[in-house]
Amino acid sequence: MSVKQPELRRYLVDVDTVSTQQIFTDVLVIGAGIAGLFSALEAAKTSNVTLISKDKLEMSNTWYAQGGIASVLNRDDTIEKHVNDTIKTGCGLCNKKIVELVISKGPELIGELLALGTQFDLEDDGSVSTTLEAGHSKSRVAHAHGDSTGKWIAGALIDRLKEHPNINYIENFFAIDLITNSEQRCLGVIGNHEKFGREIIWAPSTILATGGAGILYRETTNPNIATGDGMAMAYRAGAVLRDMEFMQFHPTTLYIAGASRVLMTEALRGEGATLLDSNGYRFMFDYNSAGELAPRDIVSRSILEQMRKTDSTHVYLDVRHFEDGHFQKRFPFIGEICKSFDIDPQKDLIPVRPSAHYMIGGVKTDENAKTNLAGLWACGEVASTGLHGANRLASNSLLEGLVFGKIAADAAVKNSNAKAKSLVNRKIFYNVKRSSRSRLDTEDVRNSLRALMWRNVGITRAQESLSECSEIILFWQRYVMDKIFDSPDGWECQNMLAIALLMAEAAQQRLESRGVHHRDDYPNLDEACLPKHIEQLRPDCV
Ligand code: FAD
Ligand code: SIN
Repeated sequence: MSVKQPELRRYLVDVDTVSTQQIFTDVLVIGAGIAGLFSALEAAKTSNVTLISKDKLEMSNTWYAQGGIASVLNRDDTIEKHVNDTIKTGCGLCNKKIVELVISKGPELIGELLALGTQFDLEDDGSVSTTLEAGHSKSRVAHAHGDSTGKWIAGALIDRLKEHPNINYIENFFAIDLITNSEQRCLGVIGNHEKFGREIIWAPSTILATGGAGILYRETTNPNIATGDGMAMAYRAGAVLRDMEFMQFHPTTLYIAGASRVLMTEALRGEGATLLDSNGYRFMFDYNSAGELAPRDIVSRSILEQMRKTDSTHVYLDVRHFEDGHFQKRFPFIGEICKSFDIDPQKDLIPVRPSAHYMIGGVKTDENAKTNLAGLWACGEVASTGLHGANRLASNSLLEGLVFGKIAADAAVKNSNAKAKSLVNRKIFYNVKRSSRSRLDTEDVRNSLRALMWRNVGITRAQESLSECSEIILFWQRYVMDKIFDSPDGWECQNMLAIALLMAEAAQQRLESRGVHHRDDYPNLDEACLPKHIEQLRPDCV
């Protein structure tokens, strides 16, 4: 079966900038995770800022972050060691300049988070307490309230945001599309407010901080907001996407059939948890000399292989040997989750298996967080900065969001001058072509797509299943991309179909196994594999 790609629309909905309600701002921030919140606070030091989030401010990947934020905080550690660990994990695709930039800013930014009110766990002498995670050669992961780091970082930033006189924050505002003029300059966004309906926010500078796309997979650690909207709207507007074949899978999420997947933090293994198969056998050293502390991609694939060998749906985390009281003190959130399923980690094994966790690819940015579209910056998980290469080192993403959130804000503020302000508020009209093709149930498509991605663009892939995946997505696209929806469910489904196709296509182009991208038909790393990075730009923008 060969299915033609439906015409790629510029906007998902009709645009009429004259008759739609309008808001004006100097800097528009889309997203309220660590990247969006931090950039809004930075930009608000000198400019007026509008921040929008499609759900409550508290609903983000950031909020659910557990293990912590990596930074050089101890005497026996150095920036160079953290840089080397990041580059080693990234399997040859990290941009060294970017790695050095991000890692070197870590200690200062942890200090800023403390000053903004984040309650990191402290040692008796008042220094920030750290732990070890896979791929790190030193203990350098700062955490808050044990295993609820994200909630305490985001919570403090949200408190500061709410009291800031220069920030207008709007919850339940769904960004549908970036607005661009004929020179491909971003002028703001067209979106939909849950109560007030369609609105346009004009801004000379827009910061895209919409996070990742874990919801594209049936098994994921991500909350429902992670549907890849930012990547999809940037692509429609003509931004370059890069490294979309690299979806990182987390080795250990709680596996209880029928329940949603909850992350079991890597810090558990960092502090001595072991992995056992269904026969009680500790298998990780059969696969890698670092055992449970091997990089995530290796642990995820090893778990999958051991599940196959033992014909089992999961493996187990074992923390029964932890010193008395240690588990409750360090991992209170996970303790509560286990309790709710009648698992007592001091006596019982915790059933786990891998799931989709972190989107390494995204909107291509440079060292100034700048995209290829004038007026548009991107930061956090939506961006592809070059920090992670082909595999992200644990706990480096919160740090990346901080560093590039700040950089994006400083650049966005500088750009919001009188000349740039005079470019917004254009007359832009766009009419979506009406289609009479049958309607599909978007809830069904969404669920089927997630199962398809899990099976065909998962922890391991191969040509046949990837091309089959593209064909099936193209078929669904014919019936979904031609419609005009009036609620987030429909726009999310369109965004998910768009991003899934780009991921499946990028995975077909990389004819090697590198980092989180493992091809059964090309099982080895191939240094001659070119191009080094796979970039995707909508065909009519080439
Ligand atoms: P997010 O925090 O995901 O925020 C995205 C924001 O964009 C949300 O406010 C959302 O509402 C908004 N948004 C999205 N689409 C739209 C739209 N169309 N319109 C309007 N708003 C929109 N990383 C670490 O470094 N350390 C950890 O310990 C860690 N633990 C993790 C645990 C879990 C369970 C998960 C899921 C991830 C974890 N990560 C961790 C990864 C890390 O949390 C994320 O990469 C990071 O928080 C992303 O931040 P962000 O600001 O880019 O996006
Ligand atoms: C975890 O706590 O295991 C997640 C850390 C991360 O994703 O960086």
